[in-house]
Amino acid sequence: MPETASNLISPPLPDPWPRFAPPLKLGVMASGNGSNLEAIAQAIDRGDLHAQVQIVVYNNPKAGVAERALRLGLPAVLLNHRQYPSRETLDKDIVETLHAHGADWVIMAGWMRCVTAVLIDAFPQQVLNIHPSLLPSFPGLRAVEQALAAGVKVAGCTVHHVELAVDSGPVIMQAVVPIKPGDTPTTLQARIQQQEHRIYPAAIALAALGHTS
Ligand code: GAR
Repeated sequence: MPETASNLISPPLPDPWPRFAPPLKLGVMASGNGSNLEAIAQAIDRGDLHAQVQIVVYNNPKAGVAERALRLGLPAVLLNHRQYPSRETLDKDIVETLHAHGADWVIMAGWMRCVTAVLIDAFPQQVLNIHPSLLPSFPGLRAVEQALAAGVKVAGCTVHHVELAVDSGPVIMQAVVPIKPGDTPTTLQARIQQQEHRIYPAAIALAALGHTS
């Protein structure tokens, strides 16, 4: 099955992409490489996603996202979860940081910590997450490995509104990625990430238009 725009995305990419006035103000939360942050920044630069990245919050001092944000000219703040006594106190600082930088939308792009009501309630309906599976299948860690171990024939990725349970909440957009014979976690994850980079900017626009499944 070819991975084409026509049969893999539901709902379809916005065409034309909406113009938001003023542009959406994004606060991106990341723990890892930051490739989704870069895809969002590129969509903004191309003029597809009418938005600005106000701030990048990351929790891991070694995360590649810090270097990427620097290269992209985006402001980034480290809030190291190890220095907080609870998830709530970390989330309180995240909320204050996002507010201080004028973010309206919270974009979790590889954020690998559970979040609490402190964050979710501060941005009602405006916290989004991306996960490398077709939720509700395979939430949590190592989703790609979980899919391969289960022997499913299709994998994929999901952008959803964030609720309290890990990787749960109303789905905004999904992309399907067929599993090929001989796929390893690395090869499958690479194809899933290509789709993540494609759907996350579009899903942000759809969410801002009020679309969920
Ligand atoms: C992405 O594949 C994302 O789906 C996953 O982390 C990766 C981050 O990549 N998120 C989760 O598993 C959340 N449960 P990136 O740092 O290159 O954007």
